[in-house]
Amino acid sequence: MNLKDLYIDFFVSKGHRQIPSAPVVPENDPSVLFNTAGMQPLIPYLMGEIHPYGTRLVDYQKCIRTNDLDSIGDTTHHTFFEMLGNWSLGDYFKDESIEFSFEFLTKILNIPVSRFAVTVFAGNEKIPFDEVSYNKWLSLGISESRIIKTVEDNFWIAGETGPCGGDTEIFYFRSEDMIPEVFDSEDDRWVEIWNNVFMEYYKDSEGNVSKLSKKNVDTGMGVERVTAILEGVNDNYLSSVWIDVINKICDISGLSYEDNLKSMRIIADHIRTSVFISADKSGIKPSNTDQGYILRRLIRRMIRHIKILGIDINSDWERELALLIIDKYKDYYNELEENKQIVLDVLKNEKVKFNKTLEKGLREFEKSVINGNSVSGEVAFHLYDTYGFPIELTVELANERGLGVDENGFYEMFKKHQELSRTASAGKFKGGLQSDGIMETKYHTATHLLNAALKVVVGEEVHQKGSNITSERMRFDFSCDHKLTEEEKTKAEELVNKWINEGLIVSKTQMSKEEAINSGAECMFIDKYPDIVSVYCIGDVSKELCGGPHVSNTNELGHFHIVKEESSSAGVRRIKAVLSDE
Ligand code: ALA
Repeated sequence: MNLKDLYIDFFVSKGHRQIPSAPVVPENDPSVLFNTAGMQPLIPYLMGEIHPYGTRLVDYQKCIRTNDLDSIGDTTHHTFFEMLGNWSLGDYFKDESIEFSFEFLTKILNIPVSRFAVTVFAGNEKIPFDEVSYNKWLSLGISESRIIKTVEDNFWIAGETGPCGGDTEIFYFRSEDMIPEVFDSEDDRWVEIWNNVFMEYYKDSEGNVSKLSKKNVDTGMGVERVTAILEGVNDNYLSSVWIDVINKICDISGLSYEDNLKSMRIIADHIRTSVFISADKSGIKPSNTDQGYILRRLIRRMIRHIKILGIDINSDWERELALLIIDKYKDYYNELEENKQIVLDVLKNEKVKFNKTLEKGLREFEKSVINGNSVSGEVAFHLYDTYGFPIELTVELANERGLGVDENGFYEMFKKHQELSRTASAGKFKGGLQSDGIMETKYHTATHLLNAALKVVVGEEVHQKGSNITSERMRFDFSCDHKLTEEEKTKAEELVNKWINEGLIVSKTQMSKEEAINSGAECMFIDKYPDIVSVYCIGDVSKELCGGPHVSNTNELGHFHIVKEESSSAGVRRIKAVLSDE
């Protein structure tokens, strides 16, 4: 049985229910591009909402982390990985969590205790030393010299705000060398394999830490790393997770892995991530913004390495590799089989598109480095703008010649260009908007009206927390400490309809971000916006910083109707609403 199955079975036997892996693109959290940890889709439940599957959960979650693209090509970093996780939502806490982990590692995976070491939270002025975990590890036979107490490394939070807590990390000695008696977490023969986070706090944007309503456990273990450890290989790509993909690349290229480590690892990593992104139910396609741009960069970088290996770009290499990945994972992730044709089309179309400009771009690059100087921001931008070279591709090309790239210069030009093109096609910072059809546009305007109406009916303290729009309906999340009364719902609905009937003009003004904030414009995710922003005013009832698009007069919206009001997470309510013709 493989690691995923063993893990799920074990935790199911301990009273956990398996939950399905969430899509790679978060469904209700526009503040991140991809799920980066197993706990991300569970945030509302860690915050106190009741989970329909109960208080003990287990899963394997698709995660994508692309902040470290440069590291791909080494033995351990991957842009996509699977995270095994088990959760207690106000059920068991430290003792049992540690017991479960210990039992799974020593009894199910049969790893000898002598190979383990752990870290625990040392305590700071706000949160005390985690004595419970410390004593638990001692009682399980981990010696004092194998337990390190730290503050920085033993506190876990996804990003800046949210549920969080002290953690205990389990390390494994991954080497044939004699195992040192004293654990040194800086010695890279010790690798972290499992993180048990005791989520009992919430950190807000001011850095204040308060207690959550329940004490939760959130754990995470990386499939790729642990599989490699169990199989006794030091290069993840030689483990059963990757070896068939690497062999396929060897077959297609006629080259050996040993002589082409970096290119082959990048191709293997990027094809797998590209397959999972393009199969995702979010329907992401290669583009120049957000998730679509990540997908584009992955495919293009991969294509360049295909070229380095001398593979004919026009051959079916991407199809062969994608089919292999799909086959390998389809029993765990249905969408791969369901969206197989979409995946193949995405890869092929992007390949054909990039192949048209790749050669010319490479020639242009060669010309620009003849003088042996670093690549200017201007040249890097020209390569991006005209030949579709993502910046890291140019950096990679330059580095291979021992040259640098003025990346800051590139980003300055990039930003300027984005601002110009945004005026032409508003679309980049579009929040929860999925596509820009007529209905979606109407709904987008309706969210501004609803936001304004809630401020009147419930209070000025109401703020938008998220939105999700399809051509059929809108969903609007907002901060509010109570369930709306029937009266509040009716009033909000009536107010929106009143504004619709008044035929208010929707106008757009561009200004600096600072000016916009000072003018009192509403804004949900200030960091997501560029320096120059669009502010949409609807008559004098609403003023919001937004990327649009919007209708030009509220009388285009039709009739507004609230279908449902429910809890979204602690302190956040959700309204589902529709627009109709009557
Ligand atoms: N959420 C924790 C992590 O990602 C378990 O490490």
